[in-house]
Amino acid sequence: MRTQVGIVGAGPAGLMLSHLLHLEGVGSVVLEARSRDHVERRVRAGVLEQGSVDLLVENGVGDRLNREGAVHQGINLQFDGERHRVPMTELTGRTITIYGQQEVVKDLVAARLAAGADIRFEVSDVRLDGLAADEPVIRFRHRGRAEEVRCDFVAGCDGFHGVCRDAVPAGVLRAYERGYPFAWLGVLARAAPAIDELVYCNHPAGFALYSLRSPEISRLYLQVRPDEDLAGWPDRRIWDELHRRLETGDGWVVNEGPVLEKGVTPMRSVVVEPMQWRRLYLAGDAVHIVPPTGAKGMNLALADVRLLGQGFAAWYAHRGTDLLDDYSRTALRRVWRAQHFSWWMTSMLHRFAEDDPYQERLQLSQLRYVVSSRAYATSLAENYVGLPTV
Ligand code: APR
Ligand code: PHB
Repeated sequence: MRTQVGIVGAGPAGLMLSHLLHLEGVGSVVLEARSRDHVERRVRAGVLEQGSVDLLVENGVGDRLNREGAVHQGINLQFDGERHRVPMTELTGRTITIYGQQEVVKDLVAARLAAGADIRFEVSDVRLDGLAADEPVIRFRHRGRAEEVRCDFVAGCDGFHGVCRDAVPAGVLRAYERGYPFAWLGVLARAAPAIDELVYCNHPAGFALYSLRSPEISRLYLQVRPDEDLAGWPDRRIWDELHRRLETGDGWVVNEGPVLEKGVTPMRSVVVEPMQWRRLYLAGDAVHIVPPTGAKGMNLALADVRLLGQGFAAWYAHRGTDLLDDYSRTALRRVWRAQHFSWWMTSMLHRFAEDDPYQERLQLSQLRYVVSSRAYATSLAENYVGLPTV
């Protein structure tokens, strides 16, 4: 089998890249380890920057997003028992849209399949060969048979645990990392959200986040230990802890409902540089991950492939190499801005140690400054809604 761009991974990065290439008349094959059902159901984050919404809408995959996505103009920061609104749209002129990542994935899969795309779900043993000779071949197994795709370029969009990054010889890539001494326990519940806008809460017992998916579905998170066992968190304990951390004693309550899904997300910051080697281009979680506190993961993945799509388009249109040559350098500027913002939000909102009153006081001072200084609030807001360029 031969194609122009071989794409590994059908998350937001791989699917959007395949779609953008299609619009430019460039062919691709997408290879995905999991089933279609699995990728469409995997519950992940749900905040789209305005730039991400624009990208989806301008490229014809934003109809359902426009209908069902909830446009938000602010977020709340809660600390010391009080809630403060950061009016993001007033400060930046931009908005965010709440729309689950798996909904973006569903829309992209539907658009690609409707256009006759070749997406292979449930492939295994994916291996990249021929990169050093600039003749990439992706070898894999599908439905019990050994197959291969020969291509001009490989796009490694296979997430943090993917295999593409490892196809680069040792010593070429460098990883920059930061770990955090906690994880998030997330629940999706059939409960009407008791909020109109997200609440990020710094609480002595640990961080909590109140988010939503629709007028009937709430999405909530609690800071837990990094090695937390879900078995120790029956639904009752989760709700009790959410009440404790999110309620401020003024009569407002977190609405409870049946828990539809729950899971523990570890927290890490990682950037791998450069994002390219020879004819292998890496995008999204395959080369960088952020703690979810800044809501940047899906947005970075989409921003990467927007650049990559333009690079491949220029190459196929007139053998232009400038955009592809600059891909890693350009993408990394946004990646590092998001790294800093995500680390900053995480540091300001979580409890890092059992007993560190000095740091707690610093956090409260910083939070108070953010909500009382227009300059500082604008800095948070412009990062949160997404900087157009950095
Ligand atoms: N072969 C084929 N597919 C693979 C392999 C492999 N060896 N390894 C992983 N994959 C697939 C995964 O099953 C997944 O569907 O690659 C896809 C990667 O998708 P994501 O993890 O969603 O990564 P990305 O598209 O970069 O999107 C980043 O996802 O994890 C969130 O917070 C993150 O919101 C961010 C977004
Ligand atoms: C979510 O709704 O899942 C969500 C919202 C904001 C975040 C992270 C996750 O920072």
